[in-house]
Amino acid sequence: MSKRIVLTGITTTGTPHLGNYAGAIRPAIEASKDADVKPFYFLADYHALIKCQEPLRVRRSSLEIAATWLALGLDTSNAVFYRQSDIPEIPELCWMLSCVTAKGLMNRSHAYKASVAENEAAGGNDPDKGINMGLFSYPVLMAADMLMFKANKVPVGKDQIQHIEMARDIASRFNHIYGEHFAIPEAVIDDNSATILGMDGRKMSKSYNNTIPLFETEKKFKKLINKIKTNSLEPGEPKETEGCTLFGIYQAFSTESEVAEIRQRYAEGIAWGEMKKTLFEKINEEITPARERYVALMEAPEHIEEQLQEGARKARQISVPFMQEIREAVGISRIAI
Ligand code: TRP
Repeated sequence: MSKRIVLTGITTTGTPHLGNYAGAIRPAIEASKDADVKPFYFLADYHALIKCQEPLRVRRSSLEIAATWLALGLDTSNAVFYRQSDIPEIPELCWMLSCVTAKGLMNRSHAYKASVAENEAAGGNDPDKGINMGLFSYPVLMAADMLMFKANKVPVGKDQIQHIEMARDIASRFNHIYGEHFAIPEAVIDDNSATILGMDGRKMSKSYNNTIPLFETEKKFKKLINKIKTNSLEPGEPKETEGCTLFGIYQAFSTESEVAEIRQRYAEGIAWGEMKKTLFEKINEEITPARERYVALMEAPEHIEEQLQEGARKARQISVPFMQEIREAVGISRIAI
């Protein structure tokens, strides 16, 4: 049986937080231990440039995200772990795909439409104000990421489903014109991320600035947990678990029986201070060993770089010949040998 290809990327614009960990990184690392899976995990640094034009931030984020994956125990002997920008065949494929992608399809992209809607709401006279071509064709670059390695399953957050559907459209269109070259990818949605809310009670997201970084120092981590917004119910008053930020995070880190126990304590009126302490201890216990490895890795970036180079080498063993196949398919290969 051939292995299932699981592929996902993380955009390098921020510091990994609890939501990223529980929703994306932890399940991806679990999947990487499955012998029937061939994982491709990468740093989407070309995607980062679309929304972040601060070189230091992109560089820092790439380092932090790579260190996070390695500290959490990604098995790089099975997984291909690489930086998107180390694979020049990806932007090349992106161009080939652009030439079979209907502009009208991109007009319907949620990310693009949201920016246009914002401009319209602001009442200016240019609906495309501040929108670069990178944002407009973002789904094509993402399609290239997936199609290059014939991804079967793509674990992503809900906001990315449309991009995978677009990749399916683009792949089918190319296959229809030039013959069967691409596998059709499928989204896999992890619902865990939906339960992780941020410090202010909205979804935990770097765009809301409400995240709790995964690898803060223990002291700072405790402080952030203590700052999570709660309501003003007193100790002894029964509390709702539904929609409670503390409960949602606890749930993402616990077994079913632990969750049932906490549910009971909510009904009995656990004090918020007590719940924060319980939550801190729970997560801290799970992440402490990884935090120590993270700190060591951040101090030895050459070790991280070495891993990424090795990943790029493995990835290019696939992308170089595949791109040659695609060039030939569209008729731009050498005319004589
Ligand atoms: N756009 C994704 C995000 O922001 C990251 C990403 C880039 C990605 N290329 C990908 C995810 C390919 C899955 C597959 O979350």
